[in-house]
Amino acid sequence: MDRVKTGIKGFDKLVEGGFPKGKIVLLSGTPGTSKTIFALQFLYNGATQFNENGLYVSFEEREQSLKSQALQFGWEFDKLEKANKVKILSIPANSIKETTAFEIISLAKKNSVKRLVIDSLSTLSINTPTTYSKVTDLTEISIKRFMYTFINDLRDIRDGVTSLLISQTVEGQLSRDTVSEFICDGIIHINYETLGGKYSRTLTIRKMRETKNDEDVHPVEITPRGLVVHKFEE
Ligand SMILES: Nc1ncnc2c1ncn2[C@@H]1O[C@H](COP(=O)(O)OP(=O)(O)O)[C@@H](O)[C@H]1O
Ligand SMILES: [Mg+2]
Repeated sequence: MDRVKTGIKGFDKLVEGGFPKGKIVLLSGTPGTSKTIFALQFLYNGATQFNENGLYVSFEEREQSLKSQALQFGWEFDKLEKANKVKILSIPANSIKETTAFEIISLAKKNSVKRLVIDSLSTLSINTPTTYSKVTDLTEISIKRFMYTFINDLRDIRDGVTSLLISQTVEGQLSRDTVSEFICDGIIHINYETLGGKYSRTLTIRKMRETKNDEDVHPVEITPRGLVVHKFEE
């Protein structure tokens, strides 16, 4: 099994060296748990260390806001965009059309993208008009149907695109739609809890197909160079 390294300090060894290549991983957590930072770091390292082109699609933030967040950690996305190694695409939620999901997949293919981030899958699914997945009935069912259709379309991209799909959750859930955690190949969950200790965020690998993944809870630190995943004991 080929592994796609995130390059995030302390993380890759938890999943036998990286994400299984070509698979679809859900990154879930409540607001402020550092999902966006994790995803930016995954793309930045991919482009700068592993020669893998990346596409970041955000329905939550503008390109400029993502780039300046990234710059705080020294990640120069402007440079990478000029070199055609990454693309950051911001689509306001109210501009999502029936064809948006399809267009993302086409763009990933066209740009030879190896790492795809969707921030967030929750926003895309809630705002996609139902005809994409050929249902026009109940909203809840159509969101679930959207998930199956979209994940299948992602799997159909040949050439091994590894996808990181961000899931915006409320406390106690892995996704709002309650199906994406079953369909995706892996789940990373980040939790936020302030107990007066050194770290407020902890990461758990909840699932990773074809991988003997670590099962501990790991403190996550946001350092000036990006995320660092610590050992359980610390
Ligand atoms: N440069 C930084 N140094 C330390 N912590 C930061 C820095 N930038 C952002 N953060 C923390 O990260 C949080 C946002 O992370 P983000 O990835 O946007 O969260 P999410 O996408 O899960 O909502 C902020 O609320 C703040 O606590
Ligand atoms: Mg975010």
